[in-house]
Amino acid sequence: MAKRKDVRSGIAGAGFSASFHFEAIKKVYGTNPEVVGVFAIDADQTADFAAQRDIKAFDTLDEMIDSVDVVHVCTTATAHEEVAIAALEKDKFVIVEKPLTGYFGDGSDDFNGDTCCKQTALDEAIASVKRMLAAEHASKGQILYAENWVYAPSIQKEREIIEKTGAQILWIHGEEAHSGSHAKTYAQWKYSGGGVMIGKGCHPLTAALYLKRVEGIARNGRPIRPASISARTHAITRMDSFRDEGHIRSDYYDIDDFSMMHVVFEDGTIADIFASDIIVGGIHNWIEVAANNHRSICNINPNTAMSTYNCLESNFDDIYVVEKIGTKAGWSDPSPDEDWFTGYPQEIEAFYRTVAYGDPVESNITLAADCITTIYSAYVSAEQKGTEVSITTLD
Ligand SMILES: NC(=O)c1ccc[n+]([C@@H]2O[C@H](COP(=O)([O-])OP(=O)(O)OC[C@H]3O[C@@H](n4cnc5c(N)ncnc54)[C@H](O)[C@@H]3O)[C@@H](O)[C@H]2O)c1
Repeated sequence: MAKRKDVRSGIAGAGFSASFHFEAIKKVYGTNPEVVGVFAIDADQTADFAAQRDIKAFDTLDEMIDSVDVVHVCTTATAHEEVAIAALEKDKFVIVEKPLTGYFGDGSDDFNGDTCCKQTALDEAIASVKRMLAAEHASKGQILYAENWVYAPSIQKEREIIEKTGAQILWIHGEEAHSGSHAKTYAQWKYSGGGVMIGKGCHPLTAALYLKRVEGIARNGRPIRPASISARTHAITRMDSFRDEGHIRSDYYDIDDFSMMHVVFEDGTIADIFASDIIVGGIHNWIEVAANNHRSICNINPNTAMSTYNCLESNFDDIYVVEKIGTKAGWSDPSPDEDWFTGYPQEIEAFYRTVAYGDPVESNITLAADCITTIYSAYVSAEQKGTEVSITTLD
């Protein structure tokens, strides 16, 4: 058996996603991973993250990039472009968390995502994607886009069905929803590049874009890409009429908390993607594929690998059930391995194989770019109350 290659990595960012990336790296089996260290702009947070995991706390991003083969970009989305380009310029691989990049305002104190010009947002987001594409073209490194839905077991099973049966997907519908992100910065457009349409909508949207790519490549050798979009956004928890009973996060400043996107692909088929921060009862992440020869419901979360009825909430005080469940009493679907169903370890395993052995990438920069141009075109459409807007695709 050939010796497994070593892969040295560094993590930019020391928050929530940095933690689950670190956990996924520990499960890599096809290469010998070594997390060399971490760098984040908050020095104390960097030191804590490093000490808890016995890795180095780097003082600068450059120093970390020089010490590794691959950089995990787990920073807030505002810094994805800057960190990814810095790594690519040194010919390193970069694993970039979602969203690839975006538009984070004009830097003015009174910037407001509700009222900003969405055509400017689209133009600036496209310019950012083009800079990242150019950096990748000029580099020996590569962008590996960390869209875990692509690697979720149910989506990969659906890929197999499409490839082996030559299926034509007629309609995809899907959703990512829960009762509100934990991240404080998520409340403001200038930190997140938009609201729920990008923050959550990017996941089921990218899964839909990915499966149409798979279909096109399987039958004709070229991906089927998005052509136009109609979208609506709403800020339900900011309505005067919203009756807050404390179960749903409601401190958003200038972002949407409900969105729907209707995508028309270049072959005329369609996808409808919902994203919201207004549902209780745990995460609701799923995608349904209606094809000419089959129909699949791919559940990301919840999954019914296990269902439990718990008589007394306090019995489960020290038992993790599933993300964002409101109560542990009564019936629930505890996830025996939530990360596995979500696709995190499979994603990192695949990326490390690319770094070590050059394996092809399922979730690459053009898929990420299609997600960004589709979503910011959706914001232009939503500004016009749902007018159909053409989507520019980039390579
Ligand atoms: N795939 C998923 O399921 C998933 C889940 C949550 C978050 N995310 C994505 O992960 C990214 C980070 O989100 P999070 O929840 O981890 O945020 P977080 O606030 O918990 O952590 C962000 C980290 O980035 C650091 N940072 C900010 N700017 C930086 C810079 N210029 N250089 C170095 N470090 C910098 C901060 O110091 C902090 O440590 C976001 O793009 C988010 O959309 C993905």
